[in-house]
Amino acid sequence: GHETADPTALLAWYDRHRRGLPWRALPGETADPYRVWLSEIMLQQTTVQTVKGYFERFLARFPTVEALAGAPVEAVMQAWAGLGYYSRARNLHACAQAVVERHGGRFPANETALLALPGIGAYTAGAVAAIAFDKPAVAVDGNVERVLSRLMALEEPLPRAKPAIRALALALMPKARPGDFAQALMDLGATICTPKKPACVLCPWSPPCRARREGTAETFPRKEAK
Ligand code: ADE
Repeated sequence: GHETADPTALLAWYDRHRRGLPWRALPGETADPYRVWLSEIMLQQTTVQTVKGYFERFLARFPTVEALAGAPVEAVMQAWAGLGYYSRARNLHACAQAVVERHGGRFPANETALLALPGIGAYTAGAVAAIAFDKPAVAVDGNVERVLSRLMALEEPLPRAKPAIRALALALMPKARPGDFAQALMDLGATICTPKKPACVLCPWSPPCRARREGTAETFPRKEAK
């Protein structure tokens, strides 16, 4: 019979196969919000491989949000050099200053307060709330859209399907481990549920995946005709 998607199977897979990444806490430990925020901004238009080479160096130069806020913007731009999309670096600096001025140097834990900060949109607010604070939030990027649209064989095309995909992510999110769930979806999209030739035989969600069952995984997500 058809199984329903179960976050437990995904989390069990994540516990075995999670990628050790510099911004991640050790299993069972809480990640530093400053590190989580910085990594999510860096990862927005840059690959994991490239960010790995910059992340610790940037942190060595600006070890805390106060250090980043107090640095001249030119120094931040210089440390960012090579990552591209320099508006991210300007927003990064402005955001650090807002965290110091509005929140006494501590990142707020709730999505609404995070969204009000410079350079933080829905994705980053959800990622920081879930990963750094284990709040019931989701972080839906292109990888997660691909995973969930395949799971449901969602015929509605992107970008129209975005609200439905977000609602599905929230419905699947386990209340006990929202941060691990967010990162498990990212890792699944990056390593198994890839755009081309997904490794469905290795996927913890193969049993409930409608697109896999139909043999059409690679054709999702559907995209609006241009
Ligand atoms: N891509 C964006 N955010 C990520 C994260 N926290 N871990 C791995 N890949 C990511």
